[in-house]
Amino acid sequence: MNEHNWIFSKAANRMGSSIIREILKMLETKEIISLGGAVPDPKLFPLKEISEATHNVLKNNGAEALQYSSTQGYLPLRKFIAKRAQKQGIKATAENVLITNGSQQGLDLVCKIFINPGDTVVTEQPTYLGFIQSVNTYQAKFLSLPIDEDGLQVDLLENALKNHHEKPVLLYLLPNFQNPSGVTLSLARRKEIARLAQKHQIPILEDDPYSELHYYGTPLPSLKSFKCADITITLGTISKTITPGHRLGWVIADTEVIKKLALAKQATDLHTSTFAQWVIYEFCRQGHMDKHIKYLCAEYAKKRNAMLSAMEKYFPADIKWTKPTGGLFVWVSLPVGLYSTKILKDCIENKVAFVPGSAFYTDGSGNNTLRLSFSNVSIE
Ligand SMILES: Cc1ncc(COP(=O)(O)O)c(C=O)c1O
Repeated sequence: MNEHNWIFSKAANRMGSSIIREILKMLETKEIISLGGAVPDPKLFPLKEISEATHNVLKNNGAEALQYSSTQGYLPLRKFIAKRAQKQGIKATAENVLITNGSQQGLDLVCKIFINPGDTVVTEQPTYLGFIQSVNTYQAKFLSLPIDEDGLQVDLLENALKNHHEKPVLLYLLPNFQNPSGVTLSLARRKEIARLAQKHQIPILEDDPYSELHYYGTPLPSLKSFKCADITITLGTISKTITPGHRLGWVIADTEVIKKLALAKQATDLHTSTFAQWVIYEFCRQGHMDKHIKYLCAEYAKKRNAMLSAMEKYFPADIKWTKPTGGLFVWVSLPVGLYSTKILKDCIENKVAFVPGSAFYTDGSGNNTLRLSFSNVSIE
């Protein structure tokens, strides 16, 4: 093939390959026990119920379900999502909901409508790798603030907002069983963050794929239920609770934001798969959702417990890790000077993989951390 000297855009040149995708690729070729990807256990997929829902949709509404449809999404599904969000203290109607191709598309679209090159985005450190990728595409700068066992350190946020000369355009938070750390933002800090966001008028982007996967304790209300409700944009997805392959997520936000996001989405893909929306709505309409999530929680709790007790038993004393009460991840901190990338090489030789923590840092630090996911491995 002829070599061509492609001149890509600045945005394209900022796109690096993702270490997670690289690890997933590697797993296709090697027989490896992967504690790497945030991948649900396919043995737990509700195959029978999805198969029935698919059959019902094709039999009863096939033509409509295979046609183009509206950008904002299938109305009965949007109504269902708005109603379900009440459980988390969110007040919304179908007009506040946009259906997306997974929550990853929600992240991209929100960046698309809020970020100009050079703007500042506040994130937790560490934070979700997929969001780092989106922000990089839109050429924003990061203001990354450390977390502890109660989530984002709010005093540092307050200082940063006071001292930073430019007003950040977004505050990105993962309040429940954070990816990668498994940590949950405490109730007191949620209230404090709501107050600060409101005071400084900084939109909150709340990314919440994991709140329904809670194994112990009481779930905490969404950031969109506090004082900052109007300026909070909340993302959800069925990827961890039903199936990632349907690529179905949603944004809940003020109607003005939803309209802008819908325009941005139209230019990207017109709409999310009509068929996927009808099938998932049928699955929910049949009442499978709560039962299935209850089953998932019981199964993932067993895996979480197996992983934590094995770590307790086998890990050296100077290694620290989180003990999440939900979600899919345990976050490990090694003694300073011990590099997780070096350990990864040794592990791969022994057919075990994980994600080195530096992938989740916006400044390439975090060399002595790593993320272990217990979702897609057997207890054995
Ligand atoms: C925090 C977080 N946000 C967004 C996503 C994207 O999920 P999806 O696009 O499958 O809904 C993931 C996937 O792992 C995630 O962990």
